[in-house]
Amino acid sequence: MEKTLSIIKPDAVKKNVIGKIIDRFESNGLKIVAMKRVLLSKEVAGDFYAIHKERPFYNDLVEFMISGPVVVMVLEGNDAVKKNRELMGDTDPKKAQPGTIRSDFADSIDANAVHGSDSLENATNEIAFFFSQTEIH
Ligand code: CMP
Repeated sequence: MEKTLSIIKPDAVKKNVIGKIIDRFESNGLKIVAMKRVLLSKEVAGDFYAIHKERPFYNDLVEFMISGPVVVMVLEGNDAVKKNRELMGDTDPKKAQPGTIRSDFADSIDANAVHGSDSLENATNEIAFFFSQTEIH
């Protein structure tokens, strides 16, 4: 069993499709073992995406992530990191396979509906960034 971090981003929360996105996870064998709806501060969003600090899109990414509430979840299941990324589809919704979350719910590479950890190591770090052990069941 693996755990991975998923964030439903402000664009998808504004579209009121939280339930539809969660259904993709649950229907494909992933279980939500922690979840919260939060409005991120600039500092927290900046720290979370610190890995992208030198990228040209960093400031826009941080501004977007604080533009409205997000839903942060820990997903658990077999091969959870890979499975979540398959369900999400390509970072750029225009390149995402039909039927993936980003193809169905995202508008642009910035407003791309969901974030998912890209490796088991990052998943462990990202989960610890948002949740304490006592919040994961
Ligand atoms: P996410 O999986 O949350 O990780 C970093 C985010 O940066 C990514 O999704 C995109 O929303 C955003 N982003 C904007 N431009 C780019 C780009 N050129 N390459 C990768 N990510 C980008």
